[in-house]
Amino acid sequence: MSENKLAGKVALITGGARGLGRGYALHLAGLGADVAIVDRNLRAAEVYEFEKELLKADTVMEECEALGAHVLGIEADLTDREVTEAAVARLVDELGSVDIAICNAGGGTVVFADEVEVPEDGQTDINTTGTASDCPQEMLTRVLDTNLMTCMYTCMAVAPYMKAQKHGKIVTVSSTGGMDAGAGYHPYGTAKAAIIYYTRTLAQDLGPYNITVNAIAPGIIRTGRLGDRAHLSKYIALRREGTIEDCARVVEFLVTDLSDYVTGRTIPIDGGQYR
Ligand SMILES: NC(=O)c1ccc[n+]([C@@H]2O[C@H](COP(=O)([O-])OP(=O)(O)OC[C@H]3O[C@@H](n4cnc5c(N)ncnc54)[C@H](O)[C@@H]3O)[C@@H](O)[C@H]2O)c1
Repeated sequence: MSENKLAGKVALITGGARGLGRGYALHLAGLGADVAIVDRNLRAAEVYEFEKELLKADTVMEECEALGAHVLGIEADLTDREVTEAAVARLVDELGSVDIAICNAGGGTVVFADEVEVPEDGQTDINTTGTASDCPQEMLTRVLDTNLMTCMYTCMAVAPYMKAQKHGKIVTVSSTGGMDAGAGYHPYGTAKAAIIYYTRTLAQDLGPYNITVNAIAPGIIRTGRLGDRAHLSKYIALRREGTIEDCARVVEFLVTDLSDYVTGRTIPIDGGQYR
């Protein structure tokens, strides 16, 4: 198959300004797709040294352009449904269609480092610490909004365009934390579990329109926000953390014709993690 297998396709990547989302944007641009990156901070890569060092241009948009893609960057908070709909309408207007949607925005974070004015104590992200029986309202709302609602709003915003054109590939982003409650990572795990259910029902809804909807469930993947977790390799069959490219290659499968008869499923990308 040609390396330009996504030529003529437009891919939306939410949360594409750093981390895994940036990896998906670059990978799909490398396969010939035009790319729309929607992120609440288009310069989010500048927050972490690890991400800054990965950047090969000033912004992720410029990196994708260097690969030959037409690129649109939209700064938008996808926890707002109307804002999400407006962002999708704009990208269709400017890039011509939306053929692929990677609903990647999210994270087990209550307050992101770039929302903190001056991290006086060196503290950056404030991660979720809730339990199923005790979770502050603010944490509950924020984490469900950031993970579940951004995903649902994005899917609902792209669906009318994909239905009209009678094709589309949607990839939602769950987590191994949403497949097994063992880690007790609440309410993040609850949000990611709901994404698996939503993916399955959305696939039934959109299947008659030749639209596939599948979830990926990354395990321990090295990104700037989550840092070095190599010490957890002992719980992974392949004895290493996952890489952004490990995830991007599964996304490639789910957005190309290799997966045309796969829908409603969740693919773990965890190196055989067993704890
Ligand atoms: N890295 C891992 O090990 C891992 C494991 C399992 C699942 N995941 C999931 O993969 C996705 C990406 O993770 P990452 O490690 O690259 O995180 P990250 O924090 O590096 O990237 C997330 C991006 O989403 C953006 N974003 C957050 N909230 C948003 C909002 N409301 N509207 C628009 N953009 C928003 C952020 O600005 C950021 O650029 C997340 O959904 C995360 O839950 C990651």
